[in-house]
Amino acid sequence: MNYRTHFCGTLSQADEGINITLAGWVDVRRDLGGLIFIELRDHTGKVQLVSDPQVNPEVHKTFENLRPEYVVQVKGKIRTRPDGTENRDLRSGAVELCPEEVDILNTSKPLPLPIEDFEQTDESFKLKHRFLDLRREEMQKRIRARNSITCAIRDFLAKEDFLEIETPILTRSTPEGARDYLVPSRVQSGKFFALPQSPQLFKQLLMASGFEKYYQIARCFRDEDLRADRQPEFTQVDIEMSFAEVDSVISVAEGLLKCAFESVDKSISFPIPRISHKEAISKYGSDKPDLRFGLELIDFSELMSNSGFESFAKVVKAGGIVKGICVPKTADWSRKEFDDLRNLTISEYGAKGLAWISYREGDDELGTSPISKFFSADELKLIKELAGAKAGSTVFFIADKDELVHDVLGRLRLHLGHKLNLINEALDKLVWVIDWPLLEKDPESGEIHFANHPFTSVNPADEHLLSVEPEMARALAYDIVYNGVELGGGSIRNHTEASQRKALSLLGMTDEEMDDQFGFLLQALSMGAPPHGGIALGLDRLVMMLTGANSLRQVIAFPKVQSASCLLTAAPSEVNDKQLEELSLKVKHSSKTK
Ligand code: AMO
Ligand code: AMP
Repeated sequence: MNYRTHFCGTLSQADEGINITLAGWVDVRRDLGGLIFIELRDHTGKVQLVSDPQVNPEVHKTFENLRPEYVVQVKGKIRTRPDGTENRDLRSGAVELCPEEVDILNTSKPLPLPIEDFEQTDESFKLKHRFLDLRREEMQKRIRARNSITCAIRDFLAKEDFLEIETPILTRSTPEGARDYLVPSRVQSGKFFALPQSPQLFKQLLMASGFEKYYQIARCFRDEDLRADRQPEFTQVDIEMSFAEVDSVISVAEGLLKCAFESVDKSISFPIPRISHKEAISKYGSDKPDLRFGLELIDFSELMSNSGFESFAKVVKAGGIVKGICVPKTADWSRKEFDDLRNLTISEYGAKGLAWISYREGDDELGTSPISKFFSADELKLIKELAGAKAGSTVFFIADKDELVHDVLGRLRLHLGHKLNLINEALDKLVWVIDWPLLEKDPESGEIHFANHPFTSVNPADEHLLSVEPEMARALAYDIVYNGVELGGGSIRNHTEASQRKALSLLGMTDEEMDDQFGFLLQALSMGAPPHGGIALGLDRLVMMLTGANSLRQVIAFPKVQSASCLLTAAPSEVNDKQLEELSLKVKHSSKTK
């Protein structure tokens, strides 16, 4: 026997008069003294059930006992609802069922909160009762959209002849830059597996094995500080291709994105523009620029270096820069609003100061500013001209070392873009950020590390720089950015042992250290590995963006919270002494489980 012949959300007048069986949850129950109305819910929607004591006293008795979230099966004939009683909010709102039989398949204790009130409640409560929160229509839609997107991606990659190949979860650490999750080995005490931060090395090994097109919907684990767009456990669409160049990888990623967008009825225009990393930083102060609005950074360095404003001239002469942004809708701000913004840039963004010149309606072309007094009238005119400032706007300036100026203005640009509603939320702006630098210097420690990961190939045009000015060398690396969110990144790899050893030596590693950590990869590269490259797209982030969610927690069925714990299962948890003993481990300090 089937539990059901039809689904609640797909019934219409066309089904009138037929005998059907439905199964689902009691969503709402209304007892009108005489009649009892129930909205029965399944994954397709809801339909109204009516019981009339005059028609079927036995069914009515059961209906009296039904409570929200009971699971029931009903049988009966579909009938059209009387004129004027249709419910236009329901897809099956034109019809109803007057059951001839009803079976309670399971009862439900009173819920800690009605399902419809979950939306407004505090997030930790929702996550603690996640299985109930997921019953909400909004959550059902998001998880279904995730499934549609994943299916579209799989279909596309299968059609392009990619093979889905699983790689180990219990493995060695891969240097993606975060802290590893470690798993102690019982059989080899004192040794640990690392959970993969990505399948990077395995996918490269698969290229050496002759699987020319690989993909995997891969779980990755990174022990890093969580944010709205970061989870400790997340999913990548991980891709690697042999005999691939930058354009071949980009073209596959674009085809994949097209299908993913279409699966949720969105479209993107092609070609997706590309900008160099250098230009992204210089124009938007960010390596993941949000292109839904302007406010491009303007370079005032040259003008300021010879100006009468000593503070700025000094910075430029010492090798720094002065840049600014010209922001509409700000000239009539109060003094307090300007001061608040200055405090934000200093205390939150780490700037030394914030200077501004406003152009209020009716102002002359020199503008109004606490720093006007330092400039000649000609200089003020030049500033306005360079900024292209119109009435109503303010130019904000930052002077410092270039990394700091770009970082501060990049953040200020975003902050003001949101605050002043300059961002058109309806737009979908994708951009490739290409020509990444191969290496980066840590501004604090001065240490050199790879901007991407150490398997990324240098751009052959810049190879000569590696021995003289390694920080100037560009990599064959690319990121795809969607409305200011880094969606994915990849690169062409070092495919010879020599080029890989050279890259690792830039980190100061000795040959012994390389053999110890990456011996298996170096060996594979030494035995006929083809040229190869790939990309990984953050699936959770893609779904978040495509469903308009504002956090990854809304698109992952069982996400973790800030403290990297699962509130539903209370993981991580303590383990007993016997388990620790078997693993030859001893806990030195235990923290209270959150
Ligand atoms: P990368 O480290 O840039 O590259 O990661 C690729 C994409 O994975 C997503 N992502 C995350 N999503 C949610 N939570 C996180 N903590 C998190 N960390 C990363 C992002 C990111 O763009 N092996 C390389 C790829 C390659 O070179 O092919 C890699 O992992 O969307
Ligand atoms: P000062 O010459 O230090 O009195 O600064 C005059 C104005 O310039 C103040 O509004 C400061 O906030 C601003 N200012 C000072 N240093 C910087 C800087 N490095 N970048 C931007 N504005 C600055």
